[in-house]
Amino acid sequence: MTLKRIPALLATLPLALSAALAATPAEPIQPIPAAKPGNPAMVELGKKLYFEPRLSKSGVISCNSCHNLSMGGTDNLKTSIGDHWKQGPINAPTVLNSSMNLAQFWDGRAKDLQAQAGGPIANPGEMAFSHGLAVEFLSSIPGYRAEFKKVFKQDAITIDEVTKAIAAFEETLVTPNARFDQWLKGDKKAITADELAGYKLFKDSGCVACHNGPAVGGNSFQKFGIVSPYKTANGAEGRSGVTGKDADRFNFKVPTLRNVELTYPYFHDGEAATLTQAVDTMGRLQLGRQFSDVENAKIVAFLKTLTGEQPHITLPILPPSTDATPRPHPFD
Ligand code: HEC
Ligand code: HEC
Repeated sequence: MTLKRIPALLATLPLALSAALAATPAEPIQPIPAAKPGNPAMVELGKKLYFEPRLSKSGVISCNSCHNLSMGGTDNLKTSIGDHWKQGPINAPTVLNSSMNLAQFWDGRAKDLQAQAGGPIANPGEMAFSHGLAVEFLSSIPGYRAEFKKVFKQDAITIDEVTKAIAAFEETLVTPNARFDQWLKGDKKAITADELAGYKLFKDSGCVACHNGPAVGGNSFQKFGIVSPYKTANGAEGRSGVTGKDADRFNFKVPTLRNVELTYPYFHDGEAATLTQAVDTMGRLQLGRQFSDVENAKIVAFLKTLTGEQPHITLPILPPSTDATPRPHPFD
């Protein structure tokens, strides 16, 4: 349909609907809604568990070690450092707005946040604990026993409750009210002319085919290296590892571009150190387009308007270990 035909089409629609359409010209990106309140006691428990380093074998690695909420929910490393300073295989995505993802992980192997949260605790290359040890640790501490009981109304702590509480906390980690969202809601002064020009380029050159919706991504799996292949020493093959289908080789979850200014370095291998580099690679490999330095800078300027209000976190005070609590083993 050509643009010229839209007014004619509007005339045929019921009045209320055409008024609504005229008032909200469809943008491919929508504002992020504020976090839903959730169950406050469960969220508070989940926050403790998120910051709890004693859920790791070493006693020093928590979710926040690799998804640092002071740094956009990432570690800002190419690939993460796990137990025994082991080099991780892949870049840590942000936990911010992760509740909007169609699935979790670069290859989408966890269906939701709760399914994801059990993974790192038992992963030998991450926290190197086990679900049994996690429950034993938490059950040895009266403060945790009381808090789990208050939230889940039963005596025995289970790993299911642990992951449920962590997921409830993660659901609060949304970043509304970015300058771009203010612009979307009608404040035309919220972004500069250059940033707006960057948004137009982002739309017109086709980035929005994959990076769209409230999270500007997170809602599909797409091939990395459409026009020309992406060369990397990283062994990750993406979605095919989950589906077993050759057609899914090198399909990765499209990352959210919300807060992308904070979540460097970029790509699943962390090889793009800067946004300038990431935008250049995306233009060439996904769209067959070489942006000039000026165009690239405008897109980067637009991407920086996607930084939203970061969650306000008061560090939780964790209940102390008791005589019965298993001790950490950082060096063996
Ligand atoms: C040692 C570093 C490390 C620790 C500790 C860690 N993570 Fe991660 N996290 C990662 C990496 C790396 C990935 C990506 C793995 C992949 O996609 O295969 C990831 C992925 C995720 C994702 C998926 C995000 C997305 O967009 O797909 C979530 C959510 C998450 N982690 C939450 C947690 C929680 C909750 C904890 C604590 C229980 C935790 N992580 C502990 C490194 C870590
Ligand atoms: C065909 C789908 C598609 C198109 C079009 C596309 N991207 Fe991407 N984008 C992806 C995928 C998939 C990834 C993840 C690649 C990887 O690391 O495996 C990604 C990653 C990124 C990243 C890195 C984010 C991070 O956290 O690592 C940035 C920045 C980005 N894209 C910007 C853009 C821009 C700007 C454009 C337009 C010039 C664009 N993309 C076009 C699919 C696409």
